[in-house]
Amino acid sequence: KRVAIFISGGGSNMVSLLDSMTGDHPARPCLVLSNKADAGGLARAAERGVPTAVVDHKPFGGDREAFQEALQAELENAAPDILCLAGFMRVLTGSFTSRWEGRMLNIHPSLLPKYRGLHTHARALEAGDAEHGCTVHEVTAELDDGPILGQATVPVLPGDTPDALAARVLVQEHRLYPAVLRRFAGGNREMLRLSEA
Ligand code: GRF
Repeated sequence: KRVAIFISGGGSNMVSLLDSMTGDHPARPCLVLSNKADAGGLARAAERGVPTAVVDHKPFGGDREAFQEALQAELENAAPDILCLAGFMRVLTGSFTSRWEGRMLNIHPSLLPKYRGLHTHARALEAGDAEHGCTVHEVTAELDDGPILGQATVPVLPGDTPDALAARVLVQEHRLYPAVLRRFAGGNREMLRLSEA
């Protein structure tokens, strides 16, 4: 299976995915694409010999469809079987997600369906949750709402700040996403539950 990964920033999840696709893993990376030319993850992908591309969303203004057509053109080249969003910060509309339905994953830093959208760690702290975590789900037209493929939980600790909690969740993201991708690439869509080791 060929995997394309979309990023917008440092790409720590992308690195975890790249480094997991070795040996008898059924998938290999074919592209890392960013909507930001200065995304740190692009250099980390290039270091690992993975082709990269940039499709800057800004020249398209608010024309999401045109931006998505440009994304699709890059994907036609790379011909991935699976698309992994990893810290990709652009909302994708139904015309794009419908083309990739069932073949596109995303990682979200909360225990969905709680806290769709942004600022998830602050919201979990605000709510006084004892537990928090991350979710890998299939991407649909609804934001952060597709079928859940895996979740990892962490405890919320006294005195946690959003940054401390985010850092604890990120460690689990780097465990969960590779584990879910390996199963998904092998055709296994059973829900995976991890808890902090
Ligand atoms: C992380 O907080 C992750 O939860 C979210 O995007 C942020 C950056 O991820 N998906 P990465 O380091 O760019 O993979």
